[in-house]
Amino acid sequence: MKSRVFSGIQPTGLITLGNYLGALRQFVDLQDQSDAFYCIVDMHAITLPQDPHQLKERIHDLASLYLAVGLDPQKSTLFVQSDVSAHSELGWILQCVVHMGELSRMTQFKEKGEGKEVVTAGLFTYPALMAADILLYQTHLVPVGDDQKQHLELTRDLALRFNARFGDTFTVPDIMLIKQGARIMSLDDPSKKMSKSNPNPGSRIEMLDPPDVIRKKVSRAVTDSDRQIRFDPQEKPAVSNLLAIFSVISGQSIDELVAAYDGKGYGDFKKDLGEALVAHLSPIQARYEDIRQSGEVERILQQGAEKARQVANDTLANVKERVGLGG
Ligand code: AMP
Ligand code: TRP
Repeated sequence: MKSRVFSGIQPTGLITLGNYLGALRQFVDLQDQSDAFYCIVDMHAITLPQDPHQLKERIHDLASLYLAVGLDPQKSTLFVQSDVSAHSELGWILQCVVHMGELSRMTQFKEKGEGKEVVTAGLFTYPALMAADILLYQTHLVPVGDDQKQHLELTRDLALRFNARFGDTFTVPDIMLIKQGARIMSLDDPSKKMSKSNPNPGSRIEMLDPPDVIRKKVSRAVTDSDRQIRFDPQEKPAVSNLLAIFSVISGQSIDELVAAYDGKGYGDFKKDLGEALVAHLSPIQARYEDIRQSGEVERILQQGAEKARQVANDTLANVKERVGLGG
């Protein structure tokens, strides 16, 4: 039997190069050898305020991008979280399994809540819903970026706790991190991860940035004090981040790149990186436009939800039975 893969991305803004290298690219690699479910987690998105009209658009934007990077609805199941009500139901049950202390230790909730006047209870219990997403599908592997490690560990703990209390119900999932690209940093500050929510657009490359914008953002990216191009995340975090991006995008190893730019300055290096990014992203952008116009996306998402419901409802029925819920 093929292993089950599950992952999700929030429809909260334009996807960054960080999302792509940390998550989306792996989704495509995994679809041939596994039974993959990729979810647009709109209910996670509303843990922070969203404009309703914009949220709807972004769900379709993200689905179009899933398809444009090469996800094939014949191979992977693509769907929207709120179309499968089992997620909310299991999310609630897991809120009654997770401890307040465990949720309080999650760093994402602290980061996202920082400086906000009010923080919703949903932002706090977010990891219980994420655990429900994963456990409903009896998932073996979850490809995600490094920032989701803590949530995955909690998901495993909840699966083990539930299984111990109510009998074997959930597969205990493993996290799948890629070595390079698991954490792409901001272009303006290599101590922060590249993020959709950073107020400075120059801090990130967005998947749909036009070529000139990509070139300009790369040329303005901060570098480190000396002029050497070498990979040293401690001493030279900015250049190391650019090298990591260049390596994944071009398929050349970091050592090859370091050798190729030996004795050259940051200017040449950034110019070539900008061109490599444009060459990699342009075909994806062209496909994106076609798909977004095609009107196909809605149908694909409906079919995906249909398939997801079958798997999710089986697990949910079993969970309810074991917990003693229902008439
Ligand atoms: P989010 O945008 O928070 O919904 O994240 C979607 C996926 O992209 C998750 O698997 C994240 O771990 C991954 N991700 C987000 N930002 C980065 C980054 N800067 N580097 C690598 N992966 C990332
Ligand atoms: N919490 C993830 C993020 O912010 C998104 C997410 C929600 C997710 N549910 C998931 C990722 C299930 C993997 C599996 O990036």
